[in-house]
This record gives sequence, structure tokens and C-alpha cells, in this order.
Amino acid sequence: QERTYIMVKPDGVQRSLVGEIISRFEKRGFKLIALKLVHATPEHLEKHYADLKGKAFFPGLIKYMASGPVVAMVWQGLDAVKTGRVMLGATNPLASNPGTIRGDYALAVGRNICHGSDAVESAEKEIALWFPEGVVQYTNSQESWVFEL
Ligand code: GTP
Ligand code: MG
Repeated sequence: QERTYIMVKPDGVQRSLVGEIISRFEKRGFKLIALKLVHATPEHLEKHYADLKGKAFFPGLIKYMASGPVVAMVWQGLDAVKTGRVMLGATNPLASNPGTIRGDYALAVGRNICHGSDAVESAEKEIALWFPEGVVQYTNSQESWVFEL
């Protein structure tokens, strides 16, 4: 099964949206296989957002992401990467549809409350970066009711 790295950003934690975001992924049918609350260092966040280095907003992005704890998670299930991105909504909340996390709770691109991996390869890199200790393997008896195994 596919895995994606989902993170509640510092504004999402401060705005008490952690439970709401977890709940959406649970209800959609994904399986939680790793979770922790971390106050990341700028160095760690620069690795996470390495492909954006050089963008004008990069220093502000790192400052924002280092401004408080984040909730780092790995969710597993059918098409987890693509469906996760659909659930988050467009990067800029101006363009995010209602019903998506950003479309329901965010107004500004620089305060868009959640992160999701944009491809399977980036998910693998991000999971290794945030969970070098590995994820948790277990069986969930609901799985066969969510997709054809
Ligand atoms: P992530 O899930 O956080 O990776 O967002 P994304 O994949 O939808 O967008 P991208 O990776 O291109 O940008 C990463 C983050 O940088 C965004 O989620 C925003 O928080 C921030 N960002 C992107 N573009 C802008 C911008 O034009 N201005 C500002 N202030 N922030 C931006
Ligand atoms: Mg991105």
C-alpha cells in the first residue's frame, strides 16, 4: 500500500485543528502508521523544503514552519499520495475548494495549515527524514471494507 507524509503545520497546531485533520484521514479510510509532535529546527525544515531553496518566500517559510511544533504523520492506503493532496486542497487557499482542509480552514498561502507529499518519491524521502526510526506495522481489520485487497 502507498504511503504519504502528512504534517499539521504550526498554525494548524495553534488553531487546534490537529484532531480535525487526523479525523478526516481516519474517516476517509487511511491507516495511521506513524505520528509525533515535534518542534523542528530550521536545518531540518530546510531539508524538508530543499526543492524550494532560492524562492523569495523560502526564508519566511522556514521561519513559519519553525515557529512552533508540528504534527508529523504517515498515512497508508490506496493512492495515499494523490488522495492526500486532494484532501488538503490547492496550495493557495484562494484556489482551494470548500470541502478540502485548506478550503475550509485557511485564507493565506503562507499560513495553509497542512503539508502533504506531492509524489511517491517525495513521500519516501519525507518519511525517511521525519521518521528515521521507521513506521509502525500492524493490521487493521477494517481494511478489506475500504478497498479490494
Ligand atoms: P506543502 O504541502 O507545504 O509542500 O505545499 P504545496 O506542495 O502545496 O506547495 P509547495 O511545495 O510549492 O510550497 C510549500 C509551501 O510553501 C506552501 O504550502 C506554502 O506554505 C509556501 N508557499 C508556496 N508558495 C508560496 C508563496 O508564493 N508565498 C508564500 N508566502 N508562501 C508560499
Ligand atoms: Mg510541496
